[in-house]
Amino acid sequence: MINAKLPTIWYGGDYNPDQWPEEIWHEDMRLFRQAGINVVTLPVFSWAKLQPSEDVYTMEWLDRLLDLVHANGIYVCLATSTAAQPAWLSRKYPGVLPVDEDGRKRTHGSRVNFCPNSPDYRRLSRGLARRLAERYKDHPALLIWHVGNEYGPHCYCDTCAASFRVWLRERYGMIETLNARWNMSFWGHTVYDWEEIVPPTNLNGDNRCFQSMALDYKRFMSDSILACYQGEYDEIKAVTPDVPITTNFWGLFNGLDLAKWAERMDVISWDSYPHMNEPMGHVAMRHDYMRGLAGGRPFMLMEQTPSQQNWQPYNSLKRPGVMRLWSYQAVARGADTVLFFQLRRSFGACEKYHGAVIEHAGHGETRVFRECAALGQELQALGDTLLDSETHAEAALLFDIDTWIVVNMSSGPSVDLDYLKQAQSYYRAFYDRNIAMDVISPLSDFSGYRLVVAPVFYMLKPGVAERVEAFVAAGGTFVTTFFSGLVDENDLVTLGGYPGLLRRLLGIWVEEIDALTPEMKNRIVMRESGHGALQGEYECSLLCDLLHLEGAEALAVYGDDFYAGMPALIVNRFGQGRAYYVATAPDEAFLDALCESLCAEVGLRAPLDADRGIELAERHKAGRTFTFVLNHNAGRASVRLPSGETRTDLLSGRVLKGSVEVEGHGVLILAT
Ligand code: GLA
Ligand code: ZN
Repeated sequence: MINAKLPTIWYGGDYNPDQWPEEIWHEDMRLFRQAGINVVTLPVFSWAKLQPSEDVYTMEWLDRLLDLVHANGIYVCLATSTAAQPAWLSRKYPGVLPVDEDGRKRTHGSRVNFCPNSPDYRRLSRGLARRLAERYKDHPALLIWHVGNEYGPHCYCDTCAASFRVWLRERYGMIETLNARWNMSFWGHTVYDWEEIVPPTNLNGDNRCFQSMALDYKRFMSDSILACYQGEYDEIKAVTPDVPITTNFWGLFNGLDLAKWAERMDVISWDSYPHMNEPMGHVAMRHDYMRGLAGGRPFMLMEQTPSQQNWQPYNSLKRPGVMRLWSYQAVARGADTVLFFQLRRSFGACEKYHGAVIEHAGHGETRVFRECAALGQELQALGDTLLDSETHAEAALLFDIDTWIVVNMSSGPSVDLDYLKQAQSYYRAFYDRNIAMDVISPLSDFSGYRLVVAPVFYMLKPGVAERVEAFVAAGGTFVTTFFSGLVDENDLVTLGGYPGLLRRLLGIWVEEIDALTPEMKNRIVMRESGHGALQGEYECSLLCDLLHLEGAEALAVYGDDFYAGMPALIVNRFGQGRAYYVATAPDEAFLDALCESLCAEVGLRAPLDADRGIELAERHKAGRTFTFVLNHNAGRASVRLPSGETRTDLLSGRVLKGSVEVEGHGVLILAT
C-alpha cells in the first residue's frame, strides 16, 4: 500500500487554497466531504507565500489549513512548493534563471524556470523542503510527499556547462575517450581540454549535428534535475523516513531518464492529460509504462482534469461518464489513486478556464461536481478491495528513452521516423485485442515473458543483445523491426553490417535502408502459404530495409521497386525460440494479423470476448481476479462471460453471466 494510513483508493487532487480567502476554505471542506474526497495535494506553488524573503518563513497559514483539512477527515499529499521560485529569489540570485536551448537567458516568471545546477536553487529548495518536513513531520494528515512539480525543462547556462564538464570527466575519464565516444574527428571537432566543451545548443546546430554529445547533454540534464529532486528527497527522508515520497511525471516524456528517476522514487506518479480524440490505446500505453517504471507495484494517477484543460487549442469537455471511465482505466492498469488537477478553479491567470471539481459557480450543483461526487462515493465503497492488486502480463513492449531521443534527432534516413509512433503502432495491435502488455525498459528483466516486442530497437546498451539472445534461446518469442541494432549507447554505429549485435539472433544482414516519401508505398507480399493470420498482401511505407538471409526464413517479400522479392518479414529459429524481424513500417492490417498470429503461437488470450471499443484489463490479488470492462463507445456494447461462469460486478453488486451489456462509457469490475 502506498501508505496504510489511508487504505482505500485515494481520491482528490491539487488544491490551491492560497489563492483564496480563508472563508472559502470552510466551504471547500464541506464540498470535499460531499464529493468523497480524502486527499488534497498542496501547496504545490506556494514558495513565495511560505518564504517571503530569505530569512523569513510564514507557515502559520499552512498550519491552519492542515489542521482544518485533518479535522475534516482528509489527508494531505504535501508538496514542497519548489517548482516556482519566488520573484525575490530570482532577483537576488539571477544565476537561478536558466538559459534555453536557443541561448536566451530567461527572465523570472512562469514555473519550472530555474537552472538545475544553480547552487542557490539547490540550497534554497532543500532548505524549504527540510523546513516543511520538520514542521509537519508529526502532522496526522501527512500521507505522502510531493517534491517539485513536473520536472523537465533543460538549461544551457555557464553553470550547467561547467557541471557538464565535470559530469563528462567522471563518465569518460580521459579526453581521448570522450573524443572517441563522440566521434569528434567528424568535422574536425577534436577537443584537447575539457574546458573546450560547450553545451550543444540550437545556436550552432550542435544539438542535432553531434547526436552523441546531445544525447549525453540530455542525460546530464536528467541527472542534474534528478539531483534537485534528490536533494529535497534526502532532506525529507532524514526527518520522515516512513512517509513515501514522489514527484509527478508529465507522462511519456523524453526530457528525463524516467527509468533512472523511478529508482529514486518511493512511488511513481504521473499526470494524464490526453489530447481530445487521442486513441485510448495511447493513454493505456502511458499507464502501462508507469506501471513498468513502478516495477509492477501500484502507481498514482496524480492529476487528470475532471472536465477540460486550458492549454490545448480546443479544450473540449469530457463527455458525461468519461471522467469516471478514464479514472477506472487508470485503476484498471495499476493506479491506486484517482486525483485531479484541480479541486477549485482559479479565477485569474492561465488556468482559470481549466476544469475543476468546484467550478466558478462555487457550489456543487454542476454536472462536473455531481459526476465527481458520484465517483467519490463509488470509490469509497470499493474500500481496499483493489489496492495492491497486480497485473500479470505475459507480453512486454520494450521502450527506451535514450532511443527515443536519438532516433528523433537522427539526421536521416527519414524525418517521418518517430520512435514513439512506432512503439504505439505495435502496442495498438495488442491493446485492441485486450492482450495485457507491460511496457518496460530494455534494461529491466524480461526473462519472465513469453513474447517481447521491441519496435525500432535502435540502440543496444551493453549486455542487452546478449539478454535478448538468452531470452529467445530459452524459448521466448522476440519481435523487432527495421532501424534496430544500429548503434551502441553513444549512438555510434556498430560496424560490420546491420542489425549489428542482433544479426546472429535474427539470421539476417541488412545491406541498405530505403526511405519512402509520404506518398510512396511498397507492398509486403506473404509467401504462398502465409503465416498464421498473415495472408496475402499488405501496404508498407516509411523505411524499407534491403536484407539478406543468413539462416532466417523469409515469410514475406517486397512487392515493388528494385528490391521486389527481397525479404520484408523474416523469422529465425534460435535455440528454443523464435525471432521475427519486420523490415518496414506496415499498415494496421498487417500489424493486426501479426499480433493475431503471434498470440496464437505463444498462447496469449484476451481475458474475455468483447465488442470493439471495449477495453479489458485485469488486476489480481490474493487468488481473485478483477476484470475491468471499460466501454469507450458512446453506445452500448457487450462482453461475453465464459459459459457456465458467473462474475460479480463490484460497482453494481449484480451477479452476471453470459452476454453482458455495458452502457455507453460504462464500466464493470467483474470479480471472480
Ligand atoms: C500540469 C501541472 C498542473 C496544472 C495542469 C493543467 O499537469 O502539474 O499544475 O498546470 O498541468 O493541466
Ligand atoms: Zn543552468
